[in-house]
Amino acid sequence: MSRDELLAWIPSGHPDESLVREIHFDRLPVHVAVIMDGNGRWAAQRHLPRVEGHRAGIDSVRDSVETAARLGIQVLTLYAFSMENWKRPASEVGTLMQLLKRYLRSELDTLLSNDIRFRVIGRMEDLAPDIQEELHAAIQRTSSSRGMLFNIALNYGGRAEIVDAARRAMTSGVRPEDLDEQRFASFLYTAGQPDPDLLIRTSGEMRVSNYLLWQIAYSEIYVTDTLWPDFRRRHLLEAVLAYQKRERRYGGISSPAVIGAK
Ligand code: IPE
Ligand code: IPE
Ligand code: MG
Repeated sequence: MSRDELLAWIPSGHPDESLVREIHFDRLPVHVAVIMDGNGRWAAQRHLPRVEGHRAGIDSVRDSVETAARLGIQVLTLYAFSMENWKRPASEVGTLMQLLKRYLRSELDTLLSNDIRFRVIGRMEDLAPDIQEELHAAIQRTSSSRGMLFNIALNYGGRAEIVDAARRAMTSGVRPEDLDEQRFASFLYTAGQPDPDLLIRTSGEMRVSNYLLWQIAYSEIYVTDTLWPDFRRRHLLEAVLAYQKRERRYGGISSPAVIGAK
């Protein structure tokens, strides 16, 4: 996708237009991962039950997925439910699962029309059968899409993923001396995908909450105070602009110094 594609979608004169014009399309993050947080606080501010925050968060998911796809992000990974989230009241968990199901049903056509491929990362096998069925249907229906890959992290835990990868590595027949970082990564849920360049967390919390522990080794972290249900296209564009001002070093030294050292 491109600047024009994105601009065509934004009403002329809208303030987001100027943000789009500032973006360097040759330096987009390839993979953006998001910790969607703050639904409960959003609801509490309005004296509403927590689940109303989750319900409102669906609009943010819709907006972010479409913005990312139109922007030309290749992989978008949204953290929807962690393995630790089972600690929440059963009624909240139940609502989250029902919202997910409804989202998949109502958005499938939009995903397809945007050429988006849907995937799940996490221990999907432990989810309720009706949820698994819905997820499998969405994965199947979008499997030939060639545009953005949209991963949803569900019943996901970063440590569990590493344990699962270690188990797979052990049973794969790979010899210990042949196991290196690249090989190990091929046993993760995200096998074959690039690591996130940009990790966004909403609602101001400065922690990673067991998310993509292996993959975020060198991700640029962007934390915004915006609560997830308030997160829209503008916020994603702002995060990308902030990312484009960062200098990624990967343990090396800054680029001008590299030139100076020659
Ligand atoms: C994020 O919002 C959604 C999930 C974790 C499923 P929270 O429900 O964690 O909202 P806060 O952090 O309590 O505000
Ligand atoms: C992280 O948010 C999990 C998801 C966004 C799905 P939490 O709200 O569960 O994280 P903590 O408990 O604040 O670390
Ligand atoms: Mg939270």
